[in-house]
Amino acid sequence: MVTDNVELDIEGIAGDGERAIAGAHSTEVLAQVETEYLGKRSALTRAHRTLGGLSPEARKEAGRRLNEVRTRLESQLAGRRAALAEAERAEALRADRLDLTEVIPAQVLSAPSRGHLHLVTQARDELEDVFVGMGFGVAEGPEAETDWYNFEALNIPPAHPARGMYDTMYLDIGEPETVLLRTHTSPVQIHLMEEAVRSGTLPIHAVMPGKCFRLDTPDARHLPVFNQIEGLVVDRDITFGDLAGTIQSFTEAYFGEGMQSRLRPAYFPFTEPSAELEITCTLCLGEGCRTCSHTGWIELGGCGMVDPAVFAAVGIDHTVWSGFAFGFGIDRLVQMRHAIPDMRSFLENDIRFLSQF
Ligand code: PHE
Repeated sequence: MVTDNVELDIEGIAGDGERAIAGAHSTEVLAQVETEYLGKRSALTRAHRTLGGLSPEARKEAGRRLNEVRTRLESQLAGRRAALAEAERAEALRADRLDLTEVIPAQVLSAPSRGHLHLVTQARDELEDVFVGMGFGVAEGPEAETDWYNFEALNIPPAHPARGMYDTMYLDIGEPETVLLRTHTSPVQIHLMEEAVRSGTLPIHAVMPGKCFRLDTPDARHLPVFNQIEGLVVDRDITFGDLAGTIQSFTEAYFGEGMQSRLRPAYFPFTEPSAELEITCTLCLGEGCRTCSHTGWIELGGCGMVDPAVFAAVGIDHTVWSGFAFGFGIDRLVQMRHAIPDMRSFLENDIRFLSQF
């Protein structure tokens, strides 16, 4: 009988669909189940098309039951889809999770990382080594000086125009004497010569590294706190040739063979004659760039023969002794050697910059 057949089909279709929905273990399989049991070519849709062969009452009843089955299957499908989607999302999250404490051994996480000396300190140590290798000793002096050491004994009397070369930072510490942050390392020359005279230990062959201070606005090539290394030789028969040879040897020892240095006439109250020391700009190799102000040369510092007026100030007989002195900026030297565009990187404490050296 036609009616009985349709009846059997409806129950069978419903049961098959329910089992298929319950048995789908992924949203992907569930989508196939939906097409198979509710789509255009599904048994359910086909059963709808056969209703035309039934009596009007049987058709109405069968149609009602078929719709009921469709609604039931659709709601079961929606529920199953939500559950599967949630499970799949949870699984994806679990798979993506990156727990660093599981990957990195606990000791590595808790071990303190070791730092290292600042680039400028490394350079200072290296410079000392180069000069010690050339027969120099190493000396240090105070960072706060009196007017005598920073200026007067260096042949820079009060109101001398050369004081204008240094934007000095004065300290107001209630001393009767003028006290200031040294503007260069040259005052250490005075300390060494006074001491050598006192203890009768001339000659002197020494380098003196240390911090210097000037009221400069920081820019690519200037810092208000910077480092210099001073050199002083006081001996018999020292000539300008000894100075030039010493500077050339140093330039090659520090920057490498073939590096050019040049001395250009200059003025310093404490040396006579005086010169400015320049080396080939290592950023552009002499081509001219922003850092060397398009000259191809970079100024490292000054030098010259110790002025007889300085010898007089410390009680050294300039008819017996002669000498030369020089002073370089260490920060400038480091900037050149490593082609660092902006000197302010030295003080910014950015670990990404510092850890490169
Ligand atoms: N003290 C000088 C400066 O800082 C450099 C210098 C040192 C010049 C020794 C001559 C001799 O500008």
